[in-house]
Amino acid sequence: MMETGGKILNEAALSGYYGNPLSESNHIRRAGHCAVLPTLTPPGPGFNFRHTMVILVTGGSGLVGRRLIPYLENQGHRVVRLVRSRDVAGEKAVFWSTSEGRVYWDEPGEIDAFVHLAGESILGRWTRAKKARIRESRVGPTHNLCTFLAEMEAPPRVLIAASATGYYGNRGEEVLVEKSPSGDGYLPEVCRQWEAATEPARAAGIRVVNLRIGMVLTPEGGALAAMRTPFRLALGGKVGDGRQYMSWITRDDLVAVIRFMLESDDLDGPVNAVAPQPVTNAEFTRTLGLALHRPTPFTVPAFMVRLLFGQMGKDLLLASAKVMPDRLKEAGFAFRHSDLAAALDNLLSATPRD
Ligand SMILES: NC(=O)c1ccc[n+]([C@@H]2O[C@H](COP(=O)([O-])OP(=O)(O)OC[C@H]3O[C@@H](n4cnc5c(N)ncnc54)[C@H](OP(=O)(O)O)[C@@H]3O)[C@@H](O)[C@H]2O)c1
Repeated sequence: MMETGGKILNEAALSGYYGNPLSESNHIRRAGHCAVLPTLTPPGPGFNFRHTMVILVTGGSGLVGRRLIPYLENQGHRVVRLVRSRDVAGEKAVFWSTSEGRVYWDEPGEIDAFVHLAGESILGRWTRAKKARIRESRVGPTHNLCTFLAEMEAPPRVLIAASATGYYGNRGEEVLVEKSPSGDGYLPEVCRQWEAATEPARAAGIRVVNLRIGMVLTPEGGALAAMRTPFRLALGGKVGDGRQYMSWITRDDLVAVIRFMLESDDLDGPVNAVAPQPVTNAEFTRTLGLALHRPTPFTVPAFMVRLLFGQMGKDLLLASAKVMPDRLKEAGFAFRHSDLAAALDNLLSATPRD
């Protein structure tokens, strides 16, 4: 122990502290000793000092999880993937039972945070069975998981739970913010139930953020990867009349949003995870064509979309949601990619051309 300015400090607890103010509370907490905290100047209101957190992630093999996990590890956090099969559980992966919600975590010590991304992919033809899987893989497991977390002796402080801008449904040119009511139809209903399923965690005092995620852009998968080949073959074109709004976010911005949510102690409830400049489908088409140096002469008529993709086409490709990230902006989150043209240039220039 040493004495500094009248405050008793633990040397081990403070090792590494002076170089990095973010390490302070963690070092003290993990050292397990009682120490009188030094006074620090916080970097901003509501910002959490804790640098090294133990973070559990579901859906870690998905498009978002595959980027999120190394990103959080690079920030110095310990990230443990939750897997749905006992066979793949190991040193960095822990089994969770979606039916029980139970997480087979047997280490002593607290879990600081939870990021819940798991759910059946919404891409593909929405048959009756697929629609049931989309709903059932989200609502029941989320409720079970949140009940489990609520009953833990030391529950995590924060749960970041995925939801989607599908919450708002098909809304034309209406500007949609977190306070806007939910829409009508299958997808809004699933999103409402998915968000409501996090209530047991919230009721237990866990800070719960329901992240309403827009279309995630990365050349490594999802919508952009699916569009890239036809657009490169100059077969790209607007969908329907092209007036429907698309609310998008780059994957790198999304993982930065998740980190921001983990570290901002005063944010909870619904948060729109979208870039601040939603665009119409016609603008998106034109911008992607320019980024790939290809013309976009075609139009895929709405009836063809419905024929080819059924309800998925109607609810995802033809629906319009002009969603704004009001709460992120108020909280001071700085987007790296606000402008679609710059974002696509950046994303597509980093990948080899066909
Ligand atoms: N990508 C987007 O544009 C977008 C837009 C809005 C909302 N979201 C939501 O954000 C979350 C993450 O998105 P993502 O693009 O990373 O999704 P994703 O690529 O489809 O991955 C989701 C992950 O969930 C797990 N999973 C798959 N089927 C499941 C099932 N039947 N039951 C339980 N878990 C299952 C799998 O992870 P494990 O094998 O590791 O368990 C899978 O890798 C999803 O819930 C998605 O709906 C995504």
